[in-house]
Order: sequence, then C-alpha cells, then structure tokens
Amino acid sequence: MSDERRAHIVVLGNEKGGSGKSTSAMHLCAALMEQGRRVAAIDLDGRQRTLTRYLDNRARAVAEGVDLMMPSYAVVVRSEAPDFAAAQADERHRFLSVLEDYVGRHDVVIIDCPGSDSFLSRLAHGCADTLLTPMNDSFIDLDLIARVDPTDHAILGPSLYSELVWEMRKRRARTGGTIDWLVMRNRVSHLDARNKRKVSEVLGRLAKRVGFRVVAGLSERVTYRELFLHGLTMLDLGRTGSSLTMSEVAARQEVRSLVGALDLPAVERATAPLEPVAA
Ligand SMILES: Nc1ncnc2c1ncn2[C@@H]1O[C@H](COP(=O)(O)OP(=O)(O)O)[C@@H](O)[C@H]1O
Ligand SMILES: [Mg+2]
Repeated sequence: MSDERRAHIVVLGNEKGGSGKSTSAMHLCAALMEQGRRVAAIDLDGRQRTLTRYLDNRARAVAEGVDLMMPSYAVVVRSEAPDFAAAQADERHRFLSVLEDYVGRHDVVIIDCPGSDSFLSRLAHGCADTLLTPMNDSFIDLDLIARVDPTDHAILGPSLYSELVWEMRKRRARTGGTIDWLVMRNRVSHLDARNKRKVSEVLGRLAKRVGFRVVAGLSERVTYRELFLHGLTMLDLGRTGSSLTMSEVAARQEVRSLVGALDLPAVERATAPLEPVAA
C-alpha cells in the first residue's frame, strides 16, 4: 500500500462502547461524499454492526427512492478459527483484502472499530493515517486516555489505549508514516458547564503530553438517535423539502467543522458542498 494515490484511512477508535464512533463514522461518510470524495466504510464491529446496519438502512431508503449518496461498505467479522494463530492470520487476510481493494479506488476509507481491544481493531489502528477518538465529557471517558489524580487532576500516566496508540505510531514511524490522532468530544451537553470546563482543561494538558489534537465534536441531540433507522445523517435533512430547525442547522455546522478539522488532503475531483450551509 505504498501507492501515493491510495486512499486516506480514517479510523474511529477507542476502547469504550457508546462514545459515538459509529454515529461519527456515518456522518463523516456523508460529509466526505458531499465534498465529492469517493468514500468506503469498513465495519470491524461484527457483533453490533451499527455502521453496517446504518448503511443498510440508507441503502433501503435509496431503493425506496430517496436521493442519497452511498459509500462502498463491508463488514469484517472476527474469525471463528479455534486456533489463535490461525484466527489472527484469517482476520489479517480478510481485513487486508477488503482494505486493499478499497484504498485503490476511493479517496477516503473510514474504519469503524469495536469498543474493545481486538486483533482487528489493532490492525486498523496500525493502518490509520488519521485516528479519531470520540469521547463523552466525562472523567470516565478521559480515563481511557490517561489516569488522572482525583484531587488535583494531575496526570498520573497513560492508559492502555494511549499506550496502544503510542505503539502503533512507533511502528508506523519505522516505515516513514505518521498517525494524526484527534480526540473529539461527543454528546457535548449545553448543561453542566463546570464538568465540561474541568474535562476540557485536563484534555488540553493531555493533548500536549500524549500527542493528540482536540477537535470540536458534536453536541448532544436526540435527532442523532432517530436518524439511524432511516439511514440518514444531519446532512441529509432538509433535502426532502422540509425546513431545518435551528438545532439541525447548528448540528450540520458541527459535522462540517469536524470534517474540516480532519485536515484531509484535497482531491482534484472534490467539489464545494452540494448546498450551502443554511444561514
Ligand atoms: N451527539 C449525539 N447526540 C445524541 N446521541 C448520540 C450522539 N452521538 C451518539 N449518540 C447515541 O449514542 C449511542 C452510542 O453511539 P454509537 O455511535 O453507537 O457509539 P459507539 O459506536 O462508540 O458504540 C447511540 O444510541 C447514538 O444514537
Ligand atoms: Mg459502534
């Protein structure tokens, strides 16, 4: 995969369920397709298959006549081989087959990881050009990145997940590559300003110490939970003629800002958004 024209690989990862990896993955797909990029998605969460089911719902909407762009997509499930080494070889083979096929004919490949450590998840982290880690504004989620002293919030040490990313970055550096690690806050609440400020302050210190960029994420909005069944994203709302609420307009802006923060290489084919961000 040394071809310079190969796709940029964005991995959604952390070792916690429910932080917004799949929701963000789906929204990134939509936003990047809107920019005119050829997008593929790989779901590595073979148990929950949230992204696959989201995209199946979207494909069904397309079949029913809704005008939506679709990415290529595939799920890679865990191996059932009884032998550990055989299972790893099988997973590596199936993952790399899909990835190699996709990187050759897309501009971006989005990989959605399960919320736990697994061999497939490690393989994906090792291939990432960009690693995007969503987290809730909570010290429980922060604990996945580093251990923090409960009284003065001093940083005591990295978490297992940070160590994993560190290891992947070292391996990548050996072949001259880099992994751009971004931590995004998801389900940001408009309430609880005190907690938000505290988490934000520790995250800022951690970013320097551990080496990631903090990017503005997505606010808590009920609509995210409702869109799944229809296969829609915030960016698709309003296409059917109904006007957007203020909250939906703000949500779309957040999604587009998130995509901008990824700082992906431009592709010649990329065009301006299909429709201007509503004022
Ligand atoms: N910004 C958000 N606002 C409201 N609900 C959200 C938001 N992001 C995710 N959710 C909801 O949180 C739950 C977990 O999200 P999901 O994307 O499946 O997380 P993960 O893939 O990390 O397990 C889902 O019910 C999803 O609809
Ligand atoms: Mg998920």
